[in-house]
Amino acid sequence: MSDVRVALVGACGKMGSLIIRRLLATDGVALSAAFDLVNIGKDVGEVIGAGKLNVLVSDSKDLSSVLKETRTDVLIDFTIAPATAVNAPVAAAAGVNLIIGTTGLTAEQRTNITEAVIKNNVSAVISSNYSIGVGVFFKLIRDAARYLGNDYDVEIIEAHHNQKKDAPSGTAMTAAEIISKEMGGKDFVFGREGLCPRGKEIGIHAVRGGDIVGDHTVMFIGNSERIELRHQAHSREIFVGGAVMAAKWVVSQKKGVVYEMSDVLN
Ligand SMILES: NC(=O)c1ccc[n+]([C@@H]2O[C@H](COP(=O)([O-])OP(=O)(O)OC[C@H]3O[C@@H](n4cnc5c(N)ncnc54)[C@H](O)[C@@H]3O)[C@@H](O)[C@H]2O)c1
Repeated sequence: MSDVRVALVGACGKMGSLIIRRLLATDGVALSAAFDLVNIGKDVGEVIGAGKLNVLVSDSKDLSSVLKETRTDVLIDFTIAPATAVNAPVAAAAGVNLIIGTTGLTAEQRTNITEAVIKNNVSAVISSNYSIGVGVFFKLIRDAARYLGNDYDVEIIEAHHNQKKDAPSGTAMTAAEIISKEMGGKDFVFGREGLCPRGKEIGIHAVRGGDIVGDHTVMFIGNSERIELRHQAHSREIFVGGAVMAAKWVVSQKKGVVYEMSDVLN
């Protein structure tokens, strides 16, 4: 079987460069193209310190033509939400499957991407967190929410590095949505200030500082006890392996469908 041809948008970023290194070390995949706003025209391998790869960084304005010329099967996107909102539908229209790691997409941006996936009969994975451990963490909080029900208050605290652009994290939002669904629907309150008596909401709080890769704590707080479930990422490598796994997986899935990381893990 021939290699799955994978392109990266956001290739020179923290996640993009790690994913390229992992692709190079993974059987069954090949790097087909690289896109970014910076380093255009340079060899992406030299930019990320992996040696010459003969893959130049392209301007994402040329996304459609480069994806077609390079016979790309899958585009992995770790950029920022406004960029993904533009690039993902263009890639889908070029017949390319999608792995989207960018967080902070609005509901409207996500709907537009889903419509493009269906219309162009490609498949996609969109996940706020590609870590395998977080997949298990989501399952644990779903179970806890199911067993504890509405007698317990829920608070979510996330912490990330000081370069992170969006807040709260996509993972915190996914956790809140899982718990809300399990508890029959909850409002979300983002931080608290001034007079703010607690209702039946899920409180969500974002900490930013230093080089924290990503911590998520979900607290189920009752009157005489509390349960805290915590996932701590020690390295971005946990997202990298999952994103590459998803890229290999997505090419053989039913088309016109947007999958989650839980589908890949299952
Ligand atoms: N889903 C996950 O598992 C997961 C894990 C870590 C980070 N993330 C998310 O991935 C995204 C990227 O994170 P990062 O830490 O690598 O950020 P980063 O700032 O290091 O890298 C982003 C890269 O995208 C490029 N970029 C921005 N706009 C672009 C455009 N229009 N076209 C092409 N390239 C463009 C930037 O130049 C930069 O090189 C963020 O949204 C972050 O929250 C997701």
